[in-house]
Amino acid sequence: MPVELRRREVLVAGTLLAVAARFPALASVPTPLPAADQRRIDRLIAAMTLDEKIGQMVQVAGGRQVALNSRLDSAALDRVRAGRIGSFLHVAGAEPLRELQRVAVEESRHGIPLLFAMDVVHGYRTIFPVPLALAASFDPAVAEDAARVAAVEASVSGLHWTFAPMIDIARDARWGRVVEGAGEDPHLGATMAVAQVRGFEGRGTDLGEDAVLACVKHLGAYGAGMGGRDYDTADLSERTLREVYLQPFHAAARARAGTMMTAFNDLAGVPTTGNADLVRGILRDQWHYQGLVVSDWNAIRELIDHGAASTPAEAAALALRASVDMDMTSDTYAEYLAPAVAADPTLLPLVDEAVQRILTTKTKLGLFDDPYRFGDPERERTVLGSADHRARARRAAEQSIVLLRNEGGVLPLRPAQRVALIGALADDARSTIGSWKARGVPEDSVTLRAALGDVTYAPGVAPRGEDVSGIPAAIAAAEGADVVVLALGEDWDHSGEARSRADITLPGAQMTLLDALKATGKPIVAVLMNGRPLALESALADVPAVVETWFGGNEAGAAIAAVLRGEVNPGGRLPMGMPRTSGQVPQFYAHVPTGRPANPDLSVDSARYHDTDIGPLFPFGHGLSYTSFEYADLAITRIDGGARHRIGCSITNTGPVAGDEVVQLYVRVAVPGLARPARELRGFTRLTIAPGATRLVTFILRNHHFAHWADDQWRVPAGRVEVMIGASSADIRLTGALSVDREFNWPAYDGAGAALFTPVEIL
Ligand code: BGC
Repeated sequence: MPVELRRREVLVAGTLLAVAARFPALASVPTPLPAADQRRIDRLIAAMTLDEKIGQMVQVAGGRQVALNSRLDSAALDRVRAGRIGSFLHVAGAEPLRELQRVAVEESRHGIPLLFAMDVVHGYRTIFPVPLALAASFDPAVAEDAARVAAVEASVSGLHWTFAPMIDIARDARWGRVVEGAGEDPHLGATMAVAQVRGFEGRGTDLGEDAVLACVKHLGAYGAGMGGRDYDTADLSERTLREVYLQPFHAAARARAGTMMTAFNDLAGVPTTGNADLVRGILRDQWHYQGLVVSDWNAIRELIDHGAASTPAEAAALALRASVDMDMTSDTYAEYLAPAVAADPTLLPLVDEAVQRILTTKTKLGLFDDPYRFGDPERERTVLGSADHRARARRAAEQSIVLLRNEGGVLPLRPAQRVALIGALADDARSTIGSWKARGVPEDSVTLRAALGDVTYAPGVAPRGEDVSGIPAAIAAAEGADVVVLALGEDWDHSGEARSRADITLPGAQMTLLDALKATGKPIVAVLMNGRPLALESALADVPAVVETWFGGNEAGAAIAAVLRGEVNPGGRLPMGMPRTSGQVPQFYAHVPTGRPANPDLSVDSARYHDTDIGPLFPFGHGLSYTSFEYADLAITRIDGGARHRIGCSITNTGPVAGDEVVQLYVRVAVPGLARPARELRGFTRLTIAPGATRLVTFILRNHHFAHWADDQWRVPAGRVEVMIGASSADIRLTGALSVDREFNWPAYDGAGAALFTPVEIL
């Protein structure tokens, strides 16, 4: 292990403390259980029958996502009594879960408590912005706080475990599940992954008060599904897998995320749920990850559909050999693991290992000491949707809004202006809460229409369907106004699981409405609501102001209205670039240069499309403000004899109002023999600056931040590293260089550049 990595230093100078404290030192080695707890687990495993052991490895749906607890019938309770169920998902509620736990603890032979799980993704009752929006805040504290509130609400409702965060890197906006992740970049993704794990589980080595287990998902390249199709095959180089897709997983493993979920899809022909090289090899052996690994829904049985197993018993053995501890809903372990073990006794120690991890997880949650410690009907009544939680959701929604364009100062709106609010999404409370709504309800949401209050409103068209009968009224409303605020985009059900789209332009008749409104000549403020970056080059032509608002949760409308009126100065940034056209995806800023870089001159043969301009419509990291910022004074100094580098600059707010700037640090590392990404994010920070004020930002990079994957190890070559600081991946304001004196390598188990937190000092 290189010396630098052993010293997990956290800079503690000046206000840096506040930032550094968000990321306590990461460590991958699990803390051992106290001896008495370990002895209890050993005694239990020695006393359990094979069927009882397998029972611990079985997770059953106690309901459906839309009808929680609906399958908790007498047959399910009998299985609990027989010790044939270790965990339920899609259950909730302090009182029903207490009763279910009582049956397990009092009426089964060993009294082993159950684990209760649910997808609590961006809120439980209080709904925060969708995860892609939280990532757009470019502030890990916002993502951590959203997870914290979700954990508090979920745990008082009796839940132990959430299937979140989803940390799949996504570079193809056609994929419906981009809404659940943190976008295209591994450094941003790893940072948001760790922040959310901390929010759900708490900061200490033990699960804190009101904590729930996180489940980072879906290991390892679910986001790389071919063609942006959900569940589809991912075929990646080992380098891209390690440098991009596995980075958030490695960071989460080091942050001691309690559990992980394997993906539905295959990686280079090996279905992940049966992928021993990935799960047992990389996750367990190389990273020393000891948390519980659960399959995705029915994924063990689906090994047969992949063609990787021909019988359910083979599927069970494949998943177990890959080190998948728990079978989510397929009952393949329940029904076929015992015969598989009978046919091949070498599986038995693997069963014991899995049960060991499951019982360790239950121990860490404190369930053996007090099986009812989660769930509190009293607090459930006061905590869910509390004013404090609403206020935190409001702040998160404000922080996640991205001002994409503001020509001629159309925004903020002025009080005297007559506003026509148009678009059905402006009045669609259901869409504000997104697809993973847990126990959120539309009735709790403030829509943009409600928040803007007394303005002329016309729905125009719905986001799906071809009904254009509302367009004349929308035109009339526009004609009577000074400015049109037009909600455009997708409804909640256009993105999410199994919601890939081949054409990511505006669905339904929205383009017809938009064209009709453009023809009125009134200035249009496009308020985008969507779960993915849409391809809107032609739609947004001649639209002077564009605001990306995602699905902003219960407080979406209030937050958007505050931004439109200038009460809140937007500071969010795009965590995924927005393409011009659907045909441009997959697309990402960290592309590898070709020998024939894209050239505006079409007579030159170059890496571009002939029928669209080069690059995205709005790049990764892009976002404007109602003020402006000037970057200056780049200073790069070596510390620790060149093992670390201090990269500083000053940022001045040159405009009239206070605002937030997201300062982004990119590097380009030249590697002999390889083509490396044109730039890679290695640090960022969001800071508030008063008008006329200057703040100093210093990033500390270690040489490990310049690593790439080659020959089965991480390598850092000696030589020059270009340093770029800017306001987006395409708006670089300062450039410089540093050098690495000596090359060095380190093995797979020790992490990589992008996953390492970059300390930032702000004065
Ligand atoms: C999804 C997972 C989710 C699980 C349980 C699956 O279909 O892929 O992300 O956690 O269902 O709801």
